Order: sequence, then C-alpha cells, then structure tokens
Amino acid sequence: MKILSIESSCDETSVAVTDGRQVLSNIIATQIPEHQIYGGVVPEIASRRHTEAISAVCNEALLSAGITYKDIEAIAVTFAPGLIGALLVGVNFAKGLALSLGVPLIPVHHLRSHIAANYADNEELKPPFLCLTVSGGNSVITEVLDYTKFNILGETTDDAAGECFDKTARALGLSYPGGVHLDKIATVSDFKKYSLPYPHTEREFDFSFSGLKTSVINLIHNSKQKGIEIDVPVLAATVRERVCDILIDKTLSAARQNGYKTIVLAGGVSANSELRRRMSEECEKADIKLFFPSLKYCGDNAAMVGVQGYYEFLSGNTSDVTLNACATMPIDYRE
Ligand code: KG4
Repeated sequence: MKILSIESSCDETSVAVTDGRQVLSNIIATQIPEHQIYGGVVPEIASRRHTEAISAVCNEALLSAGITYKDIEAIAVTFAPGLIGALLVGVNFAKGLALSLGVPLIPVHHLRSHIAANYADNEELKPPFLCLTVSGGNSVITEVLDYTKFNILGETTDDAAGECFDKTARALGLSYPGGVHLDKIATVSDFKKYSLPYPHTEREFDFSFSGLKTSVINLIHNSKQKGIEIDVPVLAATVRERVCDILIDKTLSAARQNGYKTIVLAGGVSANSELRRRMSEECEKADIKLFFPSLKYCGDNAAMVGVQGYYEFLSGNTSDVTLNACATMPIDYRE
C-alpha cells in the first residue's frame, strides 16, 4: 500500500513515500541553520518555512520514489504533538491532498512514528516490546503492546532528555541543536571533576531532567563568576554520562519488572553515541534484545510517519477533513 506521508511537527519539513515498512523515498528539508542563530526553534519562523517548502518537498518525494500522485493510496500526516503552527501546515496540506486524490487520510502521533522508525530498519521487530522514546520534547517509557496499542510506564515530569542536552549545551557555548554537538565533544571520560545530581522521582519509571539541567547551568555561571575556566569536553561528557545513567537504569528496570526481553530506542536522542553503546552493553549482559533506528531515521522524518501510518490504517484509524492538529497528546490516546 503506497502511502505519501508528511511530517512538519518542529523544524524539518519532510515528505516520504512508503509501502508497508518499505521506504521508497524520504525527503527532508531542514530549518536548523536558520534557527541556529536564535539558539533554538522559533515557532513562527518554523511555520513559515514549512509553508514555503512543503510543495517542493512533496514533488521531490514522488519523483525520488518514481511514482506520481495517481499511484498514492493514502495520505499519512503527523497531527500531534508538536508546535501547533508547524503541525497545522502539514495537516492542512495533507487534508487538501487526501480530498483532491480521493484517498484516506491517516492521522499519526509523532512519538508512535518515532517508534515505527525501527520497523523500517528491522524486518524482524514486532510488538510486544518495551520502548524508550527520547526526543527534544519527550522522554517516555512505553509498553508497545501492539502496533497501535501503547501503555505508558513512565514519562518526564518536567524537561525532556533532549531539552536537558540542548540547554546545557547552549550554556557550554555550543550551537543548536546542542545534543548533537555535546555528543561530539564529549570525548573525555574523567567523571570525578564535576559532580552532578541523580534526580529523584515519585514514580519509579518517571524522569526529571530540570534539576540536572539547572545544576549544570549554575555550575557554569558560578565558575564564570569565580574566574574558573570550565573544561567543556569533560563537563559535556559528565552530563552525557548522567543522562545515560538515568535513561538506562530506568529502562532496564522497567523491562525486568514487566518481563520484557526486547527493548527499542526511539527519537532524536537515540542517536546519542554513548546511549547506544552503553545500552547495547547492558542489554547484552541482561540477555535482552536491543533495537535502535539507523541514524538517518533517529531525527524527524516522514518515512517513519508512513510506516506507522500503515499500521494505523490497518487498525482503522483514519480521519475525515475535520482533522485538527494538537500541540499535546499522550502516545496512548484513544482514537
Ligand atoms: O526526535 P527529534 O529530532 O525531534 C523531536 O521530536 O523533538 O529530537 C531532537 C532532539 C534534540 O534535543 C537534539 O539535541 C537531540 O534530539 N539529539 C541528540 C543527538 N542527536 C540529536 N541528543 C544527544 N545526542 C545526540 N547525538
């Protein structure tokens, strides 16, 4: 089933053509260089750039897949969660296409699609499994009971892991998106120089990253005031180590307590080199099978929307032209 899928939840305009789990094309127009000068995503600029880019990106996706509009059997689109103005561009474009082509419209939840990025890469991966989804706006441990059935075991009570990386990286003088640059310079493993807190949460599998973020920012400011130079690669490595400790401890504990022998990583932060390395090591020790997406599918892209869209379609989750975008929505929402 050939699906044309659209992603515009944040700062990438992406259109893909998929056939089941197979990716026929996946075009991404990134806005990162433009947001870099502001140190983060400016929502109004994001919406405008999506509007400007979406038609050309769509044409390129069709061209690259070697098909035309008449071959498309459904339109899938990210409708939640994300920046509302940015989402609306994709949702409205998708509604127009579905209506004019006379094909079904499939709303896709952004985090569900991040998980589905793993299906594109790993033919053998099937639910049930336990998933850690970590991105710029979300950190959540979910039981993936079936392709469209989810149960949240824990989530962040404040900042997301990606946000913690981005804000601490910014305080260290690194450019947006900070997580990527922090990962690159964190080459030193001297973890005694800076001591960072391990946050407490009321519920065992919830996360809290705002205290960790604040303690890093305070440490940098206090050092500056005292004229003490920060060792940027060492502090970056210490932040990365602590974020990985938290993500890995909680995910493995959730897997053990709920009897899961398969763990999946998803979302932008799943590109983190140390998270991938340490999680692989720990899962091997615990005899747990680990999957993570290839780097090209870790960040926002429409291919993952098309793959999840296929499963949503099989579950009967389609919409009509009254579909609206939503800035927030839990992964286990009921259709
Ligand atoms: O999934 P994503 O592309 O967008 C959202 O849906 O939010 O995730 C973006 C987040 C940013 O916070 C970015 O800094 C982080 O993923 N990220 C990383 C790495 N690559 C991207 N964080 C740590 N290490 C990386 N290698």
